[in-house]
Amino acid sequence: EINFFFPKKRTLAVIKPDAMEDHREEILEEIRGRGFSVTQLKETVLSREMAEEFYKEHREKPFFSQLVEFMCRGPCMMLVLSKENAVEEWRAMMGPTDPDKAKETSPQSLRARFAADILHNSVHGSSSEQHAEEKISFIFGDISTDAELTSDGETDK
Ligand code: TYD
Repeated sequence: EINFFFPKKRTLAVIKPDAMEDHREEILEEIRGRGFSVTQLKETVLSREMAEEFYKEHREKPFFSQLVEFMCRGPCMMLVLSKENAVEEWRAMMGPTDPDKAKETSPQSLRARFAADILHNSVHGSSSEQHAEEKISFIFGDISTDAELTSDGETDK
């Protein structure tokens, strides 16, 4: 079905190491249940260098080294999500950065339910379309056309 008025957009979503063991399947189900297409998906252990590059915007922040350490401590699930308003809708599903705030303002959000604290906050999502495209190329290389993925991770077409 083609919708000419609300073309699909993409965002990069990450299931962070703290959520991989216990919440990965539930998060993936919820993503699909909300009408996102998962067009790319891969499990990766980020190297320190990749984690530093991924979060380079935060290089000067006091939490940067902890953040990098945490992001490479185990596997992450990298996903390209496609939907109209993908960036905003995925961020709404994640909830605020700090789970204490998330519990107050959006108790149904993923971070309200799964995050332990502001650092170990279970999921990542790009904050703008421009960032999304930059991080998608960084993680997946250049993908101009996305094939839909089936549930077993094989491409449909
Ligand atoms: P940020 O881009 O501000 O938040 P978001 O992930 O919601 O877009 O921060 C990136 C990550 O840095 C955040 O997910 C967790 C970590 N972080 C901290 O550990 N402490 C902090 O005070 C902040 C603001 C972020």
